[in-house]
Amino acid sequence: MKLDVFTLFPEAFDWFRSQRSVQNALSQGNELRFFNYRDTTPLKAGQVDDSPYGGGAGMVLRVDVVDAALQAAYPDGPPRVVLLSPTGRLLDDALADELTAEPHLAILCGRYEGFDERVHVHCADDEVSIGRYVLAGGELPAMVLADVVMRKLPGALGHEQSAVEESFSQLLEGAPEYPHYTRPAAYRGWGVPDVLLSGDHEQIRRWRAKQSQARAEQFERRPE
Ligand code: ADE
Repeated sequence: MKLDVFTLFPEAFDWFRSQRSVQNALSQGNELRFFNYRDTTPLKAGQVDDSPYGGGAGMVLRVDVVDAALQAAYPDGPPRVVLLSPTGRLLDDALADELTAEPHLAILCGRYEGFDERVHVHCADDEVSIGRYVLAGGELPAMVLADVVMRKLPGALGHEQSAVEESFSQLLEGAPEYPHYTRPAAYRGWGVPDVLLSGDHEQIRRWRAKQSQARAEQFERRPE
Protein backbone atom coordinates (compact mmCIF):
# COMPACT_ATOMS: atom_id res chain seq x y z
CA MET A 1 0.00 0.00 0.00
CA LYS A 2 0.98 3.60 -0.52
CA LEU A 3 0.50 5.98 2.40
CA ASP A 4 1.01 9.69 1.78
CA VAL A 5 1.07 12.23 4.60
CA PHE A 6 0.51 15.93 3.95
CA THR A 7 1.94 18.09 6.71
CA LEU A 8 3.81 21.28 7.52
CA PHE A 9 6.19 19.27 9.69
CA PRO A 10 7.51 16.20 7.86
CA GLU A 11 10.50 16.13 10.23
CA ALA A 12 8.08 15.30 13.07
CA PHE A 13 7.86 11.80 11.52
CA ASP A 14 11.62 11.04 11.61
CA TRP A 15 11.34 8.82 14.67
CA PHE A 16 8.17 7.16 13.45
CA ARG A 17 9.54 6.16 10.04
CA SER A 18 12.57 4.54 11.66
CA GLN A 19 10.42 2.11 13.69
CA ARG A 20 10.87 -1.60 13.00
CA SER A 21 7.24 -2.25 11.98
CA VAL A 22 7.37 0.68 9.53
CA GLN A 23 10.73 -0.42 8.12
CA ASN A 24 9.40 -3.96 7.75
CA ALA A 25 6.32 -2.72 5.92
CA LEU A 26 8.49 -0.61 3.59
CA SER A 27 10.81 -3.51 2.85
CA GLN A 28 7.73 -5.48 1.72
CA GLY A 29 7.13 -2.94 -1.05
CA ASN A 30 4.78 -0.57 0.81
CA GLU A 31 5.44 3.14 0.60
CA LEU A 32 5.28 5.99 3.11
CA ARG A 33 5.73 9.45 1.60
CA PHE A 34 5.58 12.95 3.01
CA PHE A 35 4.43 16.13 1.33
CA ASN A 36 4.95 19.56 2.82
CA TYR A 37 2.12 21.99 1.97
CA ARG A 38 4.75 24.72 1.93
CA ASP A 39 6.64 23.12 -0.98
CA THR A 40 3.75 23.59 -3.41
CA THR A 41 2.00 26.67 -2.03
CA PRO A 42 0.92 29.09 -4.76
CA LEU A 43 1.46 31.98 -2.32
CA LYS A 44 4.53 34.11 -1.79
CA ALA A 45 7.12 33.44 0.90
CA GLY A 46 5.84 29.98 1.67
CA GLN A 47 2.55 31.24 3.08
CA VAL A 48 0.06 28.45 3.85
CA ASP A 49 -2.45 29.97 6.28
CA ASP A 50 -4.50 33.08 6.77
CA SER A 51 -6.68 34.82 9.36
CA PRO A 52 -10.31 33.69 9.49
CA TYR A 53 -13.04 35.65 7.72
CA GLY A 54 -15.30 37.18 10.33
CA GLY A 55 -12.43 37.55 12.77
CA GLY A 56 -11.39 35.39 15.66
CA ALA A 57 -8.25 33.91 17.09
CA GLY A 58 -5.72 31.81 15.23
CA MET A 59 -4.90 31.04 11.64
CA VAL A 60 -6.60 28.74 9.17
CA LEU A 61 -4.96 26.48 6.55
CA ARG A 62 -5.98 27.78 3.14
CA VAL A 63 -7.99 25.70 0.68
CA ASP A 64 -5.91 26.81 -2.33
CA VAL A 65 -2.74 25.64 -0.53
CA VAL A 66 -4.11 22.21 0.34
CA ASP A 67 -5.63 21.77 -3.12
CA ALA A 68 -2.33 22.75 -4.79
CA ALA A 69 -0.49 20.14 -2.71
CA LEU A 70 -2.99 17.44 -3.74
CA GLN A 71 -2.89 18.44 -7.41
CA ALA A 72 0.91 18.45 -7.47
CA ALA A 73 1.08 15.02 -5.85
CA TYR A 74 -1.75 13.51 -7.91
CA PRO A 75 -1.92 14.94 -11.43
CA ASP A 76 -4.20 12.04 -12.45
CA GLY A 77 -6.56 12.51 -9.50
CA PRO A 78 -6.23 11.80 -5.78
CA PRO A 79 -6.58 8.48 -3.96
CA ARG A 80 -8.87 8.20 -0.89
CA VAL A 81 -8.16 11.32 1.16
CA VAL A 82 -8.49 11.17 4.95
CA LEU A 83 -8.54 14.45 6.84
CA LEU A 84 -7.59 14.32 10.52
CA SER A 85 -9.96 16.20 12.76
CA PRO A 86 -11.07 15.87 16.40
CA THR A 87 -14.69 15.70 15.23
CA GLY A 88 -14.15 12.99 12.60
CA ARG A 89 -15.15 9.30 12.68
CA LEU A 90 -13.49 7.72 15.70
CA LEU A 91 -10.60 5.47 14.77
CA ASP A 92 -11.12 1.88 15.89
CA ASP A 93 -9.95 -1.52 14.70
CA ALA A 94 -12.75 -1.83 12.13
CA LEU A 95 -11.93 1.53 10.56
CA ALA A 96 -8.23 0.61 10.60
CA ASP A 97 -9.06 -2.61 8.70
CA GLU A 98 -11.10 -0.64 6.20
CA LEU A 99 -8.28 1.83 5.56
CA THR A 100 -5.63 -0.92 5.40
CA ALA A 101 -7.59 -2.47 2.52
CA GLU A 102 -7.06 0.68 0.43
CA PRO A 103 -4.20 0.46 -2.08
CA HIS A 104 -3.44 4.16 -1.70
CA LEU A 105 -4.32 6.64 1.07
CA ALA A 106 -3.59 10.33 1.54
CA ILE A 107 -3.68 11.75 5.07
CA LEU A 108 -4.13 15.48 5.62
CA CYS A 109 -2.67 16.94 8.83
CA GLY A 110 -3.99 20.28 10.00
CA ARG A 111 -2.34 22.89 12.21
CA TYR A 112 -3.36 26.14 13.77
CA GLU A 113 -7.17 26.49 14.05
CA GLY A 114 -7.61 23.81 11.40
CA PHE A 115 -8.55 23.78 7.72
CA ASP A 116 -10.70 26.17 5.75
CA GLU A 117 -14.12 24.46 5.68
CA ARG A 118 -13.84 23.99 1.90
CA VAL A 119 -10.97 21.53 2.47
CA HIS A 120 -13.34 19.37 4.54
CA VAL A 121 -16.08 19.60 1.93
CA HIS A 122 -14.18 19.42 -1.36
CA CYS A 123 -10.76 17.86 -0.76
CA ALA A 124 -11.40 15.00 1.69
CA ASP A 125 -13.34 11.74 1.43
CA ASP A 126 -13.30 10.95 5.16
CA GLU A 127 -12.62 12.67 8.45
CA VAL A 128 -10.96 10.62 11.15
CA SER A 129 -10.43 11.41 14.83
CA ILE A 130 -8.19 9.56 17.27
CA GLY A 131 -10.27 10.78 20.23
CA ARG A 132 -12.55 13.53 21.43
CA TYR A 133 -9.86 15.99 22.46
CA VAL A 134 -8.08 18.69 20.49
CA LEU A 135 -4.37 18.35 19.74
CA ALA A 136 -2.14 21.09 18.41
CA GLY A 137 -1.98 19.45 14.99
CA GLY A 138 -2.62 16.36 12.93
CA GLU A 139 0.91 14.94 13.11
CA LEU A 140 0.39 12.77 16.20
CA PRO A 141 -2.99 11.50 14.93
CA ALA A 142 -1.33 10.76 11.54
CA MET A 143 1.32 8.69 13.31
CA VAL A 144 -1.38 6.83 15.23
CA LEU A 145 -3.28 6.14 12.03
CA ALA A 146 -0.16 5.19 10.04
CA ASP A 147 0.99 2.93 12.89
CA VAL A 148 -2.27 1.00 13.19
CA VAL A 149 -2.57 0.66 9.41
CA MET A 150 1.05 -0.28 8.68
CA ARG A 151 1.30 -2.92 11.39
CA LYS A 152 -1.69 -4.66 9.82
CA LEU A 153 0.12 -5.03 6.50
CA PRO A 154 1.51 -8.49 5.81
CA GLY A 155 5.12 -8.77 6.96
CA ALA A 156 5.11 -5.64 9.14
CA LEU A 157 5.37 -7.63 12.38
CA GLY A 158 8.06 -10.22 12.82
CA HIS A 159 5.50 -12.82 13.86
CA GLU A 160 2.70 -13.11 11.31
CA GLN A 161 0.16 -14.21 13.90
CA SER A 162 0.67 -11.19 16.19
CA ALA A 163 -1.57 -8.66 14.43
CA VAL A 164 -4.24 -11.23 13.64
CA GLU A 165 -4.65 -12.41 17.21
CA GLU A 166 -4.43 -9.18 19.16
CA SER A 167 -6.98 -7.12 21.05
CA PHE A 168 -10.14 -6.17 19.14
CA SER A 169 -9.12 -8.20 16.05
CA GLN A 170 -11.70 -10.27 14.15
CA LEU A 171 -10.03 -13.50 15.24
CA LEU A 172 -10.82 -12.69 18.86
CA GLU A 173 -14.31 -11.64 17.75
CA GLY A 174 -13.53 -8.06 18.67
CA ALA A 175 -12.58 -8.99 22.25
CA PRO A 176 -9.49 -7.73 24.07
CA GLU A 177 -6.48 -10.00 24.02
CA TYR A 178 -5.75 -12.51 26.79
CA PRO A 179 -2.99 -11.59 29.31
CA HIS A 180 0.66 -12.37 28.57
CA TYR A 181 3.36 -13.50 31.00
CA THR A 182 7.09 -14.09 30.63
CA ARG A 183 10.05 -14.92 32.90
CA PRO A 184 10.55 -14.84 35.83
CA ALA A 185 7.83 -17.33 36.80
CA ALA A 186 7.80 -15.92 40.33
CA TYR A 187 8.64 -12.35 41.27
CA ARG A 188 8.04 -10.74 44.66
CA GLY A 189 5.42 -13.40 45.25
CA TRP A 190 3.61 -12.47 42.03
CA GLY A 191 3.16 -15.72 40.17
CA VAL A 192 2.22 -16.89 36.69
CA PRO A 193 -0.96 -18.99 36.18
CA ASP A 194 0.02 -22.66 36.42
CA VAL A 195 -1.72 -23.56 33.18
CA LEU A 196 0.76 -21.44 31.18
CA LEU A 197 3.65 -23.44 32.63
CA SER A 198 1.91 -26.79 32.08
CA GLY A 199 2.88 -27.28 28.43
CA ASP A 200 -0.71 -28.45 27.74
CA HIS A 201 -1.55 -26.46 24.62
CA GLU A 202 -5.25 -27.33 24.54
CA GLN A 203 -5.67 -26.20 28.18
CA ILE A 204 -3.72 -23.03 27.42
CA ARG A 205 -5.89 -22.27 24.41
CA ARG A 206 -9.05 -22.71 26.51
CA TRP A 207 -7.68 -20.60 29.36
CA ARG A 208 -6.78 -17.80 26.97
CA ALA A 209 -10.22 -17.86 25.32
CA LYS A 210 -11.85 -17.61 28.76
CA GLN A 211 -9.60 -14.73 29.82
CA SER A 212 -10.29 -12.89 26.60
CA GLN A 213 -14.04 -13.35 27.12
CA ALA A 214 -13.84 -12.13 30.74
CA ARG A 215 -11.95 -9.04 29.59
CA ALA A 216 -14.57 -8.40 26.93
CA GLU A 217 -17.31 -8.41 29.58
CA GLN A 218 -15.26 -6.10 31.79
CA PHE A 219 -14.60 -3.83 28.78
CA GLU A 220 -18.33 -3.62 27.95
CA ARG A 221 -19.07 -2.43 31.49
CA ARG A 222 -16.75 0.58 31.10
CA PRO A 223 -18.80 3.78 31.13
CA GLU A 224 -17.36 5.20 27.85
N1 ADE B 1 -6.30 17.14 15.16
C1 ADE B 1 -6.34 17.74 16.36
N2 ADE B 1 -6.85 16.94 17.29
C2 ADE B 1 -7.16 15.76 16.66
C3 ADE B 1 -7.72 14.53 17.08
N3 ADE B 1 -8.08 14.32 18.35
N4 ADE B 1 -7.89 13.57 16.15
C4 ADE B 1 -7.54 13.78 14.87
N5 ADE B 1 -7.01 14.91 14.42
C5 ADE B 1 -6.83 15.91 15.30
